[in-house]
Amino acid sequence: MILAKADAVVRGLVGEILARFERRGYTILGLKLMHVTQDQAKRHYAEHDGKPFFPGLVDYITATPIVAMVIEGEDAIEGCRATIGATNPIKATPGTIRGDYGQTIGRNLAHGSDSPESAQREVAIFFNDQELFPRAHVLGDWIS
Ligand code: PPS
Repeated sequence: MILAKADAVVRGLVGEILARFERRGYTILGLKLMHVTQDQAKRHYAEHDGKPFFPGLVDYITATPIVAMVIEGEDAIEGCRATIGATNPIKATPGTIRGDYGQTIGRNLAHGSDSPESAQREVAIFFNDQELFPRAHVLGDWIS
């Protein structure tokens, strides 16, 4: 699962971010602009509870609506994280989302799930079943 976070929305970079995943050939199975509640934010970042940056992380993701997307494809977790780039934008390779548009770790534009287990857990926080489409439904008869 990918989140285009508050700075991506405020800076008008959602389309740019989304386009990078589409161009790589990933299939979008879920997509929405949404306000994240404090409860959702705390559950999403639960493993970081207690770290000094945790309150800021929760504030950041709840500050404005964000865009949440569920993306599927071959090795999508690894590919999406490579597309997003290193956590600290200063260390992110140019050509990645964070390497091209970010400056600080506290405003690093996008989140990508780090494992299939995390993705499954996170999708359930942000989407209900009616908001997700099976790959065959999205692609129809066009492409197998
Ligand atoms: S990552 O990208 O998930 O592997 O990064 P990780 O180091 O595990 O960080 C977890 C999330 O915390 C954010 N983060 C920080 N925010 C503010 N300040 C500091 N110092 C900081 N360090 C890490 C990082 O961006 C991760 O959030 P997401 O939304 O997953 O990118």
